[in-house]
Amino acid sequence: MVCMENIKRLCYDNKIILAPMVRINTLPMRLLALDYGADIVYTEELIDHRLIRCYRKVNETLESVDFIDKSDATVVFRTCSREKHNVVLQIGTSDPERAAKAAQVVEQDVAGIDINMGCPKDFSLKGGMGAALLFHPDKACAILSAVVSAVKIPVTCKIRVLQDIDDTVALCKKLAATGVAAICVHGRTINERPMHSNRNHFIKAISEALDIPVIANGGSKEIKVFEDIIKFKNITGCSSVMIARTAEKNCSIFKRDGKLELFTVIRDYLRHAVDYDNVAPNTKYCIQNMLQNIQETEQGKLFLESTSLQQICDLWELGDYCRQKQKKMNYLRFEERDVVYN
Ligand code: FNR
Repeated sequence: MVCMENIKRLCYDNKIILAPMVRINTLPMRLLALDYGADIVYTEELIDHRLIRCYRKVNETLESVDFIDKSDATVVFRTCSREKHNVVLQIGTSDPERAAKAAQVVEQDVAGIDINMGCPKDFSLKGGMGAALLFHPDKACAILSAVVSAVKIPVTCKIRVLQDIDDTVALCKKLAATGVAAICVHGRTINERPMHSNRNHFIKAISEALDIPVIANGGSKEIKVFEDIIKFKNITGCSSVMIARTAEKNCSIFKRDGKLELFTVIRDYLRHAVDYDNVAPNTKYCIQNMLQNIQETEQGKLFLESTSLQQICDLWELGDYCRQKQKKMNYLRFEERDVVYN
């Protein structure tokens, strides 16, 4: 008998994936990546404590599902039906019980859960999260086992490599034994930065040693056009590839028929930002990361002065689009006021 649940279960084989990126991977960017052909989109890392504090609210106006922090009424995670079968929520955690609870908060609205085991930032390391877990494999495995048991959707983890290739393979075998559906490997150590070359041969050794899909990550420096994604996949011998920085700069890298001009990408991004009432500072941040040096131009300078979604849209000839959509959202604004003051 074919089980419906299995049919819908996210498969990590032969996929091209938008990598988790703090502040970048809010809903508009994830939808944009899906528009352009990404198969799976990861959220930014969300910390377990914060997710556990959230309540779930269906936002009728936006047709989204919002997870709102009870302590300050901010939207921590916004999602919608369009991405339900493709979105993986990444959790930052150092504790099995909290990780399991956080995963259960969002389980019904996402396709998978990922545990961040690669973040090298002080904030993560001091809290025993991210790459700190690489040096505490028993804790890392306890977290994965707890989440795998707590939810029905697949669980993955995203790691960095260790200094030694055999140690890294041994670690991955332990992690795989917890029942995770796939492991994503960024081919740099905790101390290595983007300028260091990605250890593609480590990733290859891991993918040869494991029975589950291994997702190759860390190749952005060499990924300029779609064909480079396939090259990276072949070099690492992996089943799937995950892309961060190249997609941050121009998300249309996922298009099989070639990248789009940046201004088209920005306009496509902005429409999603307007549709889902993405906050202006986050929208601006994402566009700034796309523009890079172009911020020196006249339009770039005007952009830097903008403070509202309407002002940003005016600069990209989407002013009317924004005005009309925002008019329709009056109801939402009342809803949001309720959340803040009740
Ligand atoms: C990241 N990265 C990252 N990784 C992760 O596991 N969780 C996260 O929240 C983030 N946040 C983040 C923000 C930004 C702005 C960047 C550039 C990167 C790391 C990222 O997912 C990836 O592992 C590395 O960037 C290497 O892949 P690329 O860039 O070579 O494709």
